[in-house]
Amino acid sequence: MPLNIIIGAQWGDEGKGRFTDLMAADTDAVARFSGGDNAGHTVTVGDEIFKLHLIPSGIIHEKATCVIGNGVVMNPAVFIREMDALAERGVDVGPGRLKISRACHIITPAHLALDKAKEMQLGTGKIGTTLRGIGPAYMDKIGRSGIRAGLFAHPEELAEAIHAHIETHNKTLTKIYGAEPVDATAVAADYARYAQRLAPHLTDASVLLDKSLRAGLSVLAEGAQGTFLDIDHGTYPFVTSSSPTAGGALTGLGVGPKMVGRVIGVCKAFTSRVGSGPFPCESDGETAVRLRGTGANPWDEFGTTTGRARRVGWLDLVMLRHASRINSFTDIALTKLDILSGLAEIPVCVAYKLDGEVIDYFPYSLEELGRCEPVFDVLAGWQEDVTGCRTWDDLPQAAQKYIEYIAKDAQTPISYVSVGPGRAQVVDVSAVNLLG
Ligand code: GDP
Ligand code: IMO
Ligand code: MG
Repeated sequence: MPLNIIIGAQWGDEGKGRFTDLMAADTDAVARFSGGDNAGHTVTVGDEIFKLHLIPSGIIHEKATCVIGNGVVMNPAVFIREMDALAERGVDVGPGRLKISRACHIITPAHLALDKAKEMQLGTGKIGTTLRGIGPAYMDKIGRSGIRAGLFAHPEELAEAIHAHIETHNKTLTKIYGAEPVDATAVAADYARYAQRLAPHLTDASVLLDKSLRAGLSVLAEGAQGTFLDIDHGTYPFVTSSSPTAGGALTGLGVGPKMVGRVIGVCKAFTSRVGSGPFPCESDGETAVRLRGTGANPWDEFGTTTGRARRVGWLDLVMLRHASRINSFTDIALTKLDILSGLAEIPVCVAYKLDGEVIDYFPYSLEELGRCEPVFDVLAGWQEDVTGCRTWDDLPQAAQKYIEYIAKDAQTPISYVSVGPGRAQVVDVSAVNLLG
């Protein structure tokens, strides 16, 4: 059975968690491959809402083994809090089904302090990070001075590594940023406890996943963040510090490209972004409130991790084409179609105007992106509530046209359309020939 990969097609929060949960029902293992607890993935099961930051969203189903891959940066304190909260809700988070790669890097309080200090120094030019220590942890990894989870099984070496790590970063914190130092002894004591708790979960994730795939089991890679937050392919420097695109799934799990089956791009029926950086289709005023919601519903556009109001705008097909190319999407899962019900017209961005010239690609340069104006095609809206639709034929004709338009423009089939956050609120459209 293949490795299927779920990828965010925009700036994150597309609904990857809900589609991971959906697919996990028929999957043997679900693995996170990038990012850390900067992610916030929401899974709604009946009246229950699960907000997962680090533990794969496959955990809610009883069957799937859940794996933290080597590409993740893992804060053990957050991981343990999340494990305990899930256990209280009756979810099995034992070492038999929840595994941590020995090669993934750990986040420490020094990383959190550095993230905060750097953002403060940037002032109005800040990236608007989630302040979870992600950037500094990946800096240590790439700088070859990080601490890997494998040391959880070696308490003395871990204590030594923590002391050296904190002492080094304290110099930067105090001398460069004028911030408070971190207490190395206290951190070493905390991490000794975390290590004892997490050591039984350690594994060689690459070997484990390879064995599963060769035994005919299915593995699902749960993407975090989104294509436009990718360190290489996103709106640098307003990105995260990892590779949340399809290539990152392979290096972040230690699985080769021959194993890949589907690459599913999860795309919201409009666009949202949290944090700073360019956003050519950004709306304000009434349209923004209409798309974002007021916060009254759990699915309104307010960050799962930080609670910040998300910036919103109409669907940007220039971005979707870019994402489909970079990730080789085999198919798209379109989310939040229900939010568009009741609009007379729905604009979709099909190109940008740059200095009077129409372009059909996403520029590399932020400066150029800042000067891009969206070129919209305007589609007819629909008035019907679609939250109860379960088949293609249930959907209003204008909604069908909207879906078809997106698939044709992206030259990628759409397999699912979600019409609400609930598990059942999905229309499987894979049998419909949308590309004509
Ligand atoms: P992720 O980070 O990609 O997993 O997405 P988030 O969980 O951060 O944000 C998506 C939000 O939209 C969550 O509150 C989901 O419950 C909600 N959601 C997902 N799909 C739908 C949908 O089709 N309709 C509505 N109304 N909400 C949805
Ligand atoms: P999920 O998995 C939306 C954004 C932050 C910030 C930038 C860098 O829920 O889709 P970082 O803390 O990673 O250094 O922040 O990336 N960001 C996300 N935005 N969804 C996410 O995850 C995000 N993870 C990071 O807001 O702009
Ligand atoms: Mg999210």
